[in-house]
Amino acid sequence: MPPSVDTNIFPNAANGTTGNKIPISRICEARGMKTYHSDSSQQTPGEVETEFLIVGAGPAGASLACFLTSYGLKGIMISSAPATANTPRAHITNMAALECLRDIGLDEQLRELSSEGHCMTHTRWCHSMAGEEYARIHSWGHAPGRKGDYEMASPCSPIDLPQTLLEPVLVRYAAQNGFNTRFNTALSSFEIDNEGLIIATVHDEVSNIQYKIRTKYLFGADGARSQVVKQLDLPLSIKPGQGLAINVLVKTDLSHLVVHRRGNLHWVMQPDKEHPEFGWQGIVRMVKPWNEWMFILFPNRDCDPSTEPSKEAYLQRVRDFIGDDTPAEILDVSKWYINEIVAEKYSEGNIFCMGDAVHRHPPMNGLGSNTCIQDAFNLAWKVAYVHKGQAPPSLLDTYSIERQPVGRSIITRANQAFRDHFSVWEALGTLPKEVEVRRKVLSELREANPEGRKRRLALQKAITQTSHEFHGLGVEMGQVYHGPGIYDADEPLPYERRGRAAEDDVLYYEPSTHPGCRLPHVWLNKVIPTKPVSTIDLAGHGAFTLFTGIGGDAWKVAANQVSEELGVPINVHSIGFRQVWEDVYFDWERLRGVNEDGAVLVRPDRVVGWRAKAVPTATESSCNSRLSQAIRAILGLHSEGNL
Ligand code: FDA
Repeated sequence: MPPSVDTNIFPNAANGTTGNKIPISRICEARGMKTYHSDSSQQTPGEVETEFLIVGAGPAGASLACFLTSYGLKGIMISSAPATANTPRAHITNMAALECLRDIGLDEQLRELSSEGHCMTHTRWCHSMAGEEYARIHSWGHAPGRKGDYEMASPCSPIDLPQTLLEPVLVRYAAQNGFNTRFNTALSSFEIDNEGLIIATVHDEVSNIQYKIRTKYLFGADGARSQVVKQLDLPLSIKPGQGLAINVLVKTDLSHLVVHRRGNLHWVMQPDKEHPEFGWQGIVRMVKPWNEWMFILFPNRDCDPSTEPSKEAYLQRVRDFIGDDTPAEILDVSKWYINEIVAEKYSEGNIFCMGDAVHRHPPMNGLGSNTCIQDAFNLAWKVAYVHKGQAPPSLLDTYSIERQPVGRSIITRANQAFRDHFSVWEALGTLPKEVEVRRKVLSELREANPEGRKRRLALQKAITQTSHEFHGLGVEMGQVYHGPGIYDADEPLPYERRGRAAEDDVLYYEPSTHPGCRLPHVWLNKVIPTKPVSTIDLAGHGAFTLFTGIGGDAWKVAANQVSEELGVPINVHSIGFRQVWEDVYFDWERLRGVNEDGAVLVRPDRVVGWRAKAVPTATESSCNSRLSQAIRAILGLHSEGNL
């Protein structure tokens, strides 16, 4: 029988008095959670017990829960919100994030829910949706000259998937596979007990009861106002923000307007007109093709952020942006700030922070939720390996070492992308305060004189520069990890970007098997052709993977021995002529970076951890000892018995 509980430990948060007399055990039983039993000396009555507590059920928290369940781990996920996202913030879902979700078989389901292809063809700049267009640029892999880069980079393709559709899939998967998920439940604070366990105090907003969750690991995936980051006092690098933006969600059928204006992002700017301070200019963003849209309004600098325009004022601005008499209905209005903030480190002991909690930036380049998912993917296998005793706790330190530089790079890129738009605004004349000046600038664009020519060139240059936002394949896929989780001691040279990525690492991604890089995607097949398989699908799934080829049999033997010795799963795949996998387009030959009989070792998160040029000669250390040394180094098993 569960213990009777002293309800006095649950103060009523609303009035500060003691709470209702409902035993915590009853709440826990009703919510399907386990309570400690009074007969255990380790346990305190009234505490809920778990090993993994995730705070936040957004893209970061929910994807972490999904990835942890794929290792058979179970836990609790709480969210202070009443449900999954009620407004469609993130939508561009990139290939790097989709590859993570592909590891647990969710990518196809998400693709089916998404708008693909033609919906994402362009970003446009226009006077209104119905009106004149200033410029457009191909986006998200749709530039004729870039399509191949995207296809070659991944077995996935970018999709447009509103956060309102992504989150339910993640939460459902997590809940069905072992993460008890509690909405309306806010983390108030946490402390560490003298056994090193974390005692989180949470507030159930439905029953107005506060209770405690004792956990081994705590994950702060609680968004831009993270309580976990605040209480840990993680150092934040903060650059000046770029102001406020207002999201107005609108039901309006613009199908007739998009026939020749295909695209999911439409910048609307009307420099020749007066404008309200709260809606100087903005972006009309497709949510559902083509009858639900987000109107993202940017207030001008003089706007008082506390001003609350009326619904009629918002609706008028929406109508201005549409530009014809299409009926429109406002569904929701919300505000967000354009930040440039990154935590200097992401973890402390067994507490790990991720997502917007540690990197806060504008939506340019669509890197937010995508980076959340990749944070989670990086962390999940490390937590699982440490928890199961396959690696020492030091492996967990590599999470912050590897992901923090990524966070820094994406907040910088997203803010730079926002700043790049200034050149467009300057060229189109939206910046001056006085409407007469703005009109003059705008009309200059069409003039047959040197000033007109100069302005047209400035506009073209500014629009072309935005390809770094709309075709930033390098910033999405080209991240390289360094540190103890990567074993590069056998590399003659440090990693250097090559090819086009060396010239522009935001635009271009050059696949490589240098340790620290993502595993290159290559289509493979059987000698009697069946459905092609990507290297991405052969790797991951919780195991290390060793790719070798003709003459590399010694690696297979070594992998079996090392796997047994370390208790770590290692899958081996041989690629080449009449091997298990045929290198159908000779792409692996081009990319593998080692000889036919060499080896490329890939971590469970599909990052190359180590590679060997060839099978060692008789005078060199054996395959077994080299592979063992590499995996030990990656896991932090430098000496026997340090688990
Ligand atoms: P998020 O804020 O989503 O979730 C936080 C969770 O923590 C919620 O469940 C909340 O209830 C919970 N929580 C908070 N405090 C708590 C507490 N004390 N106790 C318990 N729970 C608590 N990204 C992208 O990749 N592509 C894109 O195209 C865009 N586009 C875009 C457009 C616009 C207009 C915006 C504003 C943002 C984007 N983004 C984006 C960014 C994306 O929306 C953002 O990065 C993610 O939502 C962040 O996910 P998190 O899970 O980190 O936090």
